[in-house]
Amino acid sequence: MTAANSNLTPDEEDLLFRLLRQLDLAPEASQRATASALGISLGGLNTQLRAAADAGLIAISDRPGPDKRQRYTYTLTRAGASEKRRLTDQFLSRKLAEYNALYAELTGTASGLPPIKHRTHPMQNNLAPIPELYVSYDSAQKLKIDAGELKSHDLTPRQICDLELLMNGGFNPLKGFLTEDDYNGVVENMRLADGSLWPMPINLDVSEEFAETLEVGEDIALRDQEGVILATMTVTDRWTPNKAREAEMVFGADDDAHPAVNYLHNQAGSIYLGGPVTGIQQPVHYDFRARRDTPNELRAYFRKLGWRKVVAFQTRNPLHRAHQELTFRAAREAQANLLIHPVVGMTKPGDVDHFTRVRCYEAVLDKYPASTTAMSLLNLAMRMAGPREAVWHGLIRKNHGCTHFIVGRDHAGPGKNSAGEDFYGPYDAQELFRTHQEEMGIEMVDFKHMVWVSERAQYEAIDEIEDKDDVTILNISGTELRRRLAEGLEIPEWFSFPEVVKELRRTKPPRSKQGFTVFLTGLSGSGKSTIANALMVKLMEMGGRPVTLLDGDIVRKNLSSELGFSKEHRDLNIRRIGYVASEITKNGGIAICAPIAPYATTRRAVREDVEAFGAFVEVHVATSLEECERRDRKGLYKLAREGKIKEFTGISDPYDVPVSPELSVETENVDVDNCAHQVLLKLENMGLIAG
Ligand code: PPS
Repeated sequence: MTAANSNLTPDEEDLLFRLLRQLDLAPEASQRATASALGISLGGLNTQLRAAADAGLIAISDRPGPDKRQRYTYTLTRAGASEKRRLTDQFLSRKLAEYNALYAELTGTASGLPPIKHRTHPMQNNLAPIPELYVSYDSAQKLKIDAGELKSHDLTPRQICDLELLMNGGFNPLKGFLTEDDYNGVVENMRLADGSLWPMPINLDVSEEFAETLEVGEDIALRDQEGVILATMTVTDRWTPNKAREAEMVFGADDDAHPAVNYLHNQAGSIYLGGPVTGIQQPVHYDFRARRDTPNELRAYFRKLGWRKVVAFQTRNPLHRAHQELTFRAAREAQANLLIHPVVGMTKPGDVDHFTRVRCYEAVLDKYPASTTAMSLLNLAMRMAGPREAVWHGLIRKNHGCTHFIVGRDHAGPGKNSAGEDFYGPYDAQELFRTHQEEMGIEMVDFKHMVWVSERAQYEAIDEIEDKDDVTILNISGTELRRRLAEGLEIPEWFSFPEVVKELRRTKPPRSKQGFTVFLTGLSGSGKSTIANALMVKLMEMGGRPVTLLDGDIVRKNLSSELGFSKEHRDLNIRRIGYVASEITKNGGIAICAPIAPYATTRRAVREDVEAFGAFVEVHVATSLEECERRDRKGLYKLAREGKIKEFTGISDPYDVPVSPELSVETENVDVDNCAHQVLLKLENMGLIAG
């Protein structure tokens, strides 16, 4: 075999072509994964590798992994890269000849497609196909069977989003989950180990128990939540990250009020795995299939329509008139076509669900001049990382074939920190983007805040209004919009489109018609169950919504009968209650929960689960330990003091007193009826029940 060898048979050339392509795609993959991807045996692969190395097409380097086992990396030499190009051309020419022959056979005429090397218009960079990590259909079938022997990791919803964009090229140049060197570079200075710009850690976080079962160098199967295999990964790196450092550097503060920091500390596994991914199939989506496009599908679409410049608009909110105006202006400014590119993977907890949003977007699409604008859904898991997120979004849009990207005020902002201040300045994202846009290869269209100028009946950028003192400037914030929807108040025509408002009202009826959860927490014997029972009866008397009581004792008999009182079991118990309560809330019912729920982090997780669908009203039944012990209705405190019951809340296990519950009720010297009434008043005050 030589660099441009003519002694090879077409089959041998084909195999060499696929080998070079695969090594280029996943240079650090295990031999097993590479052999599988090529559909050949390990022995066959070794023969091929040796021949390619002897011919000077690839360089093989080995380096000891953290466990001192040897790992191999295969890189194409200059000759290898040029051979790959030659074989690619040859492959495409052969396919073109086959196409021409088929065309002639079917139509009786010539296809008219000129041979590749005679094409006069080279493809624009942003429109040419981008590398994906998928293997061919045949290899995928084989890999699926072989993967039966591998250890499996069931991906979390966030990891599924990440994996999809890794495999389809949305996260190009990443070839898998970050290795330790790449991770450190990304956290510290937004760069991969090879110097490429990449602002967001994309990690495969797993539990310590799972990580301990693995050897570095081993392949694992990555499966969705139903167990369907999506990819394999060669684990080249395994490490314990410094999460506090990651939070500081990537999100700007180690503060749990930031949704991604909260996720990092309270949901992500404690060990990270890194290594190249071999894609088998894309995650299945049953919703809005026709609206979802891979980077290559969008690039092909732009090519087909002749869209040479495309400005992308990222959003996680419904579009109102201000957005329509802003996007339309951006397209005009950049003399480009417009791509509305909303995120439908994971957004900020509490956002309008994507089903509703997509129906709203479809209504707004009609408001743009015909054939100027397209809409495509992006299955991204957002991190709400402000400036870094803006750069990340830009790179993702570039991969999707866009040439421009809109960055407005407070791009991907996470809200307030625990001191009540904004995490980032309103235009920090624009600044960081501007610093890197040349290197990124996608241009920013920056926008200031758009407001309605009554006298001129139009939207204008706030910084461009020269006669500010002489005109009436109107604006409705996101919080104000939510309030108006919740209370069934008017939403003016100048703010949104009637179709959008109708859709939002359909999904978000006024609060007095929505489901909600009352979560009573307090020590054993504090009076939670008694108040909960009284409250339930009063709500049932009012009628209108079904009421379900999830009392601590009842849940432990039915849902959690196998659980004890260790931290792990209590957490599981409360998460189950939270899950049921969130389902009840989602479906318009009232859930009254009355467990001890001693740990603040678990209560917070339940709050998040419920708040995705409706209000969460935390009520602290604040009876003191002395009083509970004095009452000792079940005789448990006595047994706990004698050491006969272990891990008893308040005696030998902690109770985190709620810091900012919606309501705190005292039960000493107050009758139950009065306590339940206080809760009802709170519900009325929050608009959850009619006055
Ligand atoms: S938790 O922590 O929220 O899972 O507890 P919960 O399910 O609400 O507890 C229900 C009742 O179990 C009794 N019990 C104990 N409580 C605390 N610690 C220990 N070790 C324990 N062992 C049994 C206790 O009476 C709880 O009932 P309530 O209604 O709160 O008095």
